[in-house]
Amino acid sequence: MASSIGPEWLLWLKHGPLTEIVRQWVWTYPLVEAVHLLGITLLVGSVAMFDLRLLGISRHLRVTDLAGHLLPWSYAGFGIVVLSGGLLFATDAPAIALNPAFRLKLVLIAATGVNAIVFHWFCYPSVQQWDRWVKPHPMVRGIAIVSLILWTAVIICGCLIAYV
Ligand code: HEM
Repeated sequence: MASSIGPEWLLWLKHGPLTEIVRQWVWTYPLVEAVHLLGITLLVGSVAMFDLRLLGISRHLRVTDLAGHLLPWSYAGFGIVVLSGGLLFATDAPAIALNPAFRLKLVLIAATGVNAIVFHWFCYPSVQQWDRWVKPHPMVRGIAIVSLILWTAVIICGCLIAYV
């Protein structure tokens, strides 16, 4: 780790102006963590509701209507999670950057992105064929299951960061 990115960059983050503000008040860190959890609720909550529909639950609801309603909330949640997570990370960047749970979490987050891209590129264009009343085809359901498993794993890794 030290040789590729260099501790200076991580040390600068840890002692930077932003993290100094976090250290000013004992309640700031838990508040940022609460914001992180709120972002996760929005992001993973909206993604999970969409995945359950892709698995064929509530087929009376149009997939396109649900996508229109839930996607903006998942984007908002992702933004909140990345900003708050970045601040949590910065407070002890040199140590957290070496944390195996944190590293695995970032790999899993990237995998959720690839999974979502595969869905939008290869499945969603045919949505009119399975938009309502029809059981989505196996690839769609497979991607929904992978998404649910990956996001669960991201959350577990997030909870493990403080313990490994
Ligand atoms: C994108 C989806 C993400 C999810 C679902 C997620 C989930 C979680 C969860 C469940 C926790 C445990 C919170 C707790 O124990 O109270 C956590 C902690 C943490 N997350 Fe995230 N996170 C995400 C993204 C990020 C990102 C992008 C970063 C940093 C760049 C990050 C940095 C952290 C750190 C440093 C902690 C440890 C906080 C602590 O235990 O003190 N997270 N995350």
